[in-house]
Amino acid sequence: MSEDESRCEAASHQKTVLLGVTGCIAAYKSCEIVRLLQKAGVRVKVVMTEHATEFVGPLTFRSLTHEPVGVGLFDNPSDPIHHISLAQEADLFLIAPCTANVIAKLANGLADDLLTTTALATTAPLVIAPAMNVNMYENGATRYNIGKLHIRGARIIETGDGYLACGDVGKGRLADVEDIVSAVLDELGLSRDLAGKRVMVTAGPTVEPIDPVRYISNHSSGKTGYAIARAAALRGADVTLVSGPVSIAPPEAVRTVRVRTALEMFEAAQEAFGAADIAVFAAAVADVRPKQAAPRKLKKGEADAALGAIELVENPDILATLASSKKRQVVVGFAAETDDVVANAEKKLSTKHADLVVANQVGEGKAFGTDDNQVWFVDDEGVEELPRMSKERLADAILDKALEFVR
Ligand code: PMT
Repeated sequence: MSEDESRCEAASHQKTVLLGVTGCIAAYKSCEIVRLLQKAGVRVKVVMTEHATEFVGPLTFRSLTHEPVGVGLFDNPSDPIHHISLAQEADLFLIAPCTANVIAKLANGLADDLLTTTALATTAPLVIAPAMNVNMYENGATRYNIGKLHIRGARIIETGDGYLACGDVGKGRLADVEDIVSAVLDELGLSRDLAGKRVMVTAGPTVEPIDPVRYISNHSSGKTGYAIARAAALRGADVTLVSGPVSIAPPEAVRTVRVRTALEMFEAAQEAFGAADIAVFAAAVADVRPKQAAPRKLKKGEADAALGAIELVENPDILATLASSKKRQVVVGFAAETDDVVANAEKKLSTKHADLVVANQVGEGKAFGTDDNQVWFVDDEGVEELPRMSKERLADAILDKALEFVR
C-alpha cells in the first residue's frame, strides 16, 4: 500500500468534527478546541459566521486545520452547494462559541448564512457551547430557544460562571474547552479511558545494514503497531510510537520517533519506557545484525564471498531488557511463531518479563502485512483465543486487556 493510500485508509477511520465559530470574544478559544480535538485524533473543519471573522481570521483556522475554512454561502466556486457537502462530511457539528443570535436562528430553523444553512442540512449530532453576556443568557427568549434545541436533541454545554468580557459577573462564559472537547468525544463514542496515561508502542521492522544497499530485515508493515498507537491516542493517551521504516502514514496526535536499526529502536524505546504506563512491543526486531556494515557496496563476486562469511552479532532484546526493570509499567509483548504458537508464547511471557503476550502465527502470508489477524492472549491467568479481527479492532482489544493490568 502506498503512503497516499494508507493516509486515505487512516482518514477513513478518523471522525470529522465540523466546528462552527460565531461572533463572540470567546472565538479565540476555538483555536484551542481545534488543537485538543486534533490531539484526540479527530479531523476538524471550520465554518465561521461573518461576525466571527471580526474576532479571529479564517487564516488562523486554515493554518491550524490544514483544511479550507467556510464563511460565505457562495465562497467556494468549485462547490456551489458547499453547505450540503459540509453537512454530509460531519460526524458531529460543534458550535463553540455559539451566540444568542445563532442559538435563536437554530432554534427557529433560520438559515441565512453558511453556518446556519449547514446546521439545518446536517443529520450529524449537534453540540452547542453558548457564550454571551449574563443578561442575554438569562433572557427568557434565549432560555426558551436553548430549551427548544435541547428538546430537539442538541447537546448544550452549560456556560461557566464568573467574570465576563463585558465586565458583568455571572453565567454566560464559554465552558472550559476541555469540557467541550470531552463532551464531543463522548458524543462521538470515542472512549477516553486512557486519558492521563502514557503509552509507548514499538512498530514495524528494523533494518540491519550489510552494506549501503543490502540489509537484514523482515516483512512487518507496521500496521499492527500503528493501529495500537492510533487507538491509544483516540482513547486519550499520550502516545510515543517508536517506528522502524514503514510505508504507512503516522497516526495523528502521536509522537512518532523514526528509527532504522535495532540499536536505534532500543535507544528510543528506552527513553520512552521510563515514563510509560503501558508499553506495547509490536515491532519485529531483527535478532541479529552484521557485526560490521561494509562502507561501500560489495561487488557481485566479492558479495558472494562476503555474504557467506558475514559475521553476525546479537541485537539487544529490547522488550526483555526494558521489562526486567519495569516498575508500574504494564508490559505487552508479542510472540510471532510458525509452530507451537501458544507454548512458545508462554515461554516468552516469563523470559521477557511481560504481563501479557499477544501470540500470533506467522509464515504462509499470515500476520505480516495483513489487514486482520487472529491472536491468543497469554498471561499468568491462562490463554484466551480471540477470533480473527481487523488490526484496528485488535488494537482496542489489546488496550482493553492491558488496562486490566494497570497498577
Ligand atoms: O507490522 P505488521 O505487518 O502488522 O505485522 C504484525 C507483526 C506480525 C509484526 C506482530 O503481530 C508481531 O508479532 N510482532 C512481534 C514480532 C516479533 O519480533 O516477535 P518475536 O516473537 O520474535 O519477539 C517477541 C517479542 O520480543 C516481540 O514483542 C518483539 O517486539 C520483542 N523483541 C524481539 C527481539 C528483540 N531484539 N527485541 C524485542 O523487543
